[in-house]
Amino acid sequence: MFESIQGVQGNPQVYLNGRYVALSEACVSVLDRGFIFGDGIYEVVPLYHQKPFRMQEHLDRLERSLAKLDMASPVSRQAWPALIDELLAKQPPMPTAMVYIQITRGVAKRDHAFPNPPVKPTLFMMAAPMALPSSKAREQGVTAISIDDMRWLHCDIKSISLLGNVLAKQAAVNAGVDEVIQFRDGIMTEGAACNVWMVEQGRVIGAPRDNLVLEGIRYGLFQELCDSCSIEFSLESVSRDRLAQADELMVSSATREVLPVVELDGKPIAKGLPGPIYVKLRQAYDDRIAQLSL
Ligand SMILES: Cc1ncc(COP(=O)(O)O)c(C=O)c1O
Repeated sequence: MFESIQGVQGNPQVYLNGRYVALSEACVSVLDRGFIFGDGIYEVVPLYHQKPFRMQEHLDRLERSLAKLDMASPVSRQAWPALIDELLAKQPPMPTAMVYIQITRGVAKRDHAFPNPPVKPTLFMMAAPMALPSSKAREQGVTAISIDDMRWLHCDIKSISLLGNVLAKQAAVNAGVDEVIQFRDGIMTEGAACNVWMVEQGRVIGAPRDNLVLEGIRYGLFQELCDSCSIEFSLESVSRDRLAQADELMVSSATREVLPVVELDGKPIAKGLPGPIYVKLRQAYDDRIAQLSL
């Protein structure tokens, strides 16, 4: 009998360094630089009816993250889709799933500097059911608090060093709300694991694509959806005061898709209800997903 892992259903097959093993058997060295230093990156690719959503954009971001850590990809660009298909074929069918990919710099004697010559990176992949937001969250919205952004200055890297994000998410849990919205020097950055969007006079506004936020795959998607719905889209610095006056607020990520935030720091956003721009974007998002299975 395997020892079950809290929150994990069963004992799925996972991929580790070229082999498929049961999750309970998947082990890496304690000297793996991911374990010792958090020296690695990850991606989460959502799938609907077994079809990856915006896979190329996820692979682009994975390559960007690797390049920023001066790491070579263990898998060629062309080989990823087949590898992901192979992993999925080893799972029971899941209507909505996510594939988690993690690459660390590999195993070497503990030393802050990169191993020289480089060692073989560690590649780990698992697939799991993706729980979509509840209909209550979609229809009535979620709540958030604002907190200071305490993270480092390379938030554009999808790094596995997530302690700042972990503490931010726990702040939401401790406050009994769904999300946090982080501010650095009074300017909005992002959530603990999502991007934040405000609506002002019919315009959707997000934080600039810079080193202070992780550019979610929904950045490009929202731009396209706004274009298709004739909604203006722009990226600007947003202060706390400006955000508090928003007509609508939304968060986005692979697993949240798009959700309305109806309350910030205990105060309603506008009327405290999901707004018309959210409703349009939500519909356009659902339509994109429906197109996947055509
Ligand atoms: C810090 C952070 N920002 C933004 C996002 C949203 O990215 P995506 O839309 O690609 O899921 C995530 C997703 O995990 C995240 O962790």
